[in-house]
Amino acid sequence: MLSVDNIKRLDLEISSNCVASCPMCPRNFYGMKHNAGYTVTSISLENFKKIFNEQFVSRLEHVRFNGNFGDFNTNPEAVEIVEYLRHNNRHLDIDIHTNGHSRDSNFWKKLAKSDPMVHFALDGLQDTHHLHRIGTSWSRVIKNAQTFIDAGGRATWKMIVFEHNKHQVSQCSELAKDMNFRAFELANDGRDNAFVFDENGNHSHTIGSPPHRKPVDAHELLQWKAEHDWQVETEEKKIVCQALKEKRIFMSSTGDIFPCCWLGFSPTKYSDALYHGNRQQKELMNNVENNAITHGLEKAVSWFSRVQESWRKKTIKEGRLHRCNLHCGKRL
Ligand SMILES: C[S@@+](CC[C@H](N)C(=O)[O-])C[C@H]1O[C@@H](n2cnc3c(N)ncnc32)[C@H](O)[C@@H]1O
Ligand code: SF4
Ligand code: SF4
Repeated sequence: MLSVDNIKRLDLEISSNCVASCPMCPRNFYGMKHNAGYTVTSISLENFKKIFNEQFVSRLEHVRFNGNFGDFNTNPEAVEIVEYLRHNNRHLDIDIHTNGHSRDSNFWKKLAKSDPMVHFALDGLQDTHHLHRIGTSWSRVIKNAQTFIDAGGRATWKMIVFEHNKHQVSQCSELAKDMNFRAFELANDGRDNAFVFDENGNHSHTIGSPPHRKPVDAHELLQWKAEHDWQVETEEKKIVCQALKEKRIFMSSTGDIFPCCWLGFSPTKYSDALYHGNRQQKELMNNVENNAITHGLEKAVSWFSRVQESWRKKTIKEGRLHRCNLHCGKRL
């Protein structure tokens, strides 16, 4: 698989902390406070530099800050990490996906100086944004985005489209133009129907039209998930690995290295019931040393060969990774 010298792109989760509780995000359970097994932490600048040395950074083409469990803006050294990347690579493409809610104006002004493209999560207008971006304030995100743009920063308005905000797409796009956003991006990966609960698990509202009946509360839904095993796919597919194709790796906020964010779900700890295919990945990762802070990047990527070997298996039952089949399997 990929050797360290061939890596051209990074996918980074520099923090697993976040002020928000978007219902379809795995850092909570449909809005209810629930940690299904991830460590809440931020990677330090010191460890970041230790893993990705100056020479390594100088050879990179693209870095994307995104992640599974948290937000870029909650890492206390977020700006310094971006500055380190820019200092060592003038041509690097840097994309940052963030809820845009936290931090003061100095943070956003300073960030603009390193010339990243910041994708601000704005899922509608003031009257709809909060239905998905729970815990963030639309006006605060707008203010932070404007501060960033006025300081010379390149910004994208990123809108996830739902039933409740689809009528606002053109208004949002117009406002984005007025505010000098460089781009307007629509996102939808199919996570658009859900019963939403408050932090204690009581039903608060519903997004879209979930295909199952409304549970009494989030605890009932959680119990149901725990009792129903994931479906094993049997269809044979050809794996076209996106990570290999893009020469990309993923690092979590703990410094663990994975080929991609899909496999980067704290597999040793995250709930099997809530993350399909986790149990199988845990077995595949038995005795793997993938922490780059402890073992260095070279050692931390060496287990990827096991992932590749799994693709030779015909079925999931025989050991083909469910996640790889799901995300990168092409019908024969
Ligand atoms: C866990 S977030 C981490 C980055 C950052 N906190 C954010 O929200 O942009 C990872 C990605 O999931 C996306 N996401 C969250 N909820 C989603 C949903 N219901 N449908 C599609 N994408 C979603 C976010 O837009 C983001 O790109
Ligand atoms: S802002 Fe991002 S990390 Fe935070 S809850 Fe929403 S999707 Fe998850
Ligand atoms: S899911 Fe598997 S095949 Fe797809 S990018 Fe990740 S490692 Fe590669």
